[in-house]
Amino acid sequence: TVPKSSNIFWHDCPVGKTDRQKLLKQKGCVVWITGLSGSGKSTLACTLGRELHTRGKLAYVLDGDNLRHGLNKDLGFAAEDRAENIRRVDAGLLCIASFISPYRRDRESCRALLSDGSFIEVFLNMSLELCEARDPKGLYKLARAGKIKGFTGIDDPYEAPLNCEIEIKELDGVCPSPSDMTKQVVAYLEDKGFLH
Ligand code: PPS
Repeated sequence: TVPKSSNIFWHDCPVGKTDRQKLLKQKGCVVWITGLSGSGKSTLACTLGRELHTRGKLAYVLDGDNLRHGLNKDLGFAAEDRAENIRRVDAGLLCIASFISPYRRDRESCRALLSDGSFIEVFLNMSLELCEARDPKGLYKLARAGKIKGFTGIDDPYEAPLNCEIEIKELDGVCPSPSDMTKQVVAYLEDKGFLH
């Protein structure tokens, strides 16, 4: 996209991603957690963040709900706002991003920035029925009552990933525990050499 302002100049920073990785002795990646509201994204993000911290890895959690309180407080839930919400998430070190990120093209544009296998898409494949039954914030109830318009899964789309690295599914209508979900992601990160 073209910047809104004119007379602005790009400055290359002398410390790059590779330098930070060397300093921290860790290989950076983005764990991108996508799924419906109430599928457990933020819980997994926090549990995983804690586990990586315990293992001495510098990880940072970027969560949709939280960013919408600050950096992204100007954004709503129209398709163009949701796209901008995702575009503003920059790849960090061990970055854990948890956003509904309902549109495939937005997730793919993040993946395209990291073409070296360090974009790890985690799909929390929980059914709408399960998420709606959990309804931790009471938002599905409001959406069904027509009090929230454009709610993902109700009257707004969610495009499931076609080629994600990790898919976490419900078992007999039950969401796996945060610790089981974390184990699955950690096993992948270990296998791919991100935790050495
Ligand atoms: S998105 O689609 O990626 O831009 O959404 P995200 O930044 O992850 O924010 C999702 C949280 O915003 C609350 N919320 C809504 N979600 C979906 N649709 C609508 N219309 C909406 N309005 C408010 C809700 O708390 C979401 O949190 P999660 O953690 O997903 O339940």
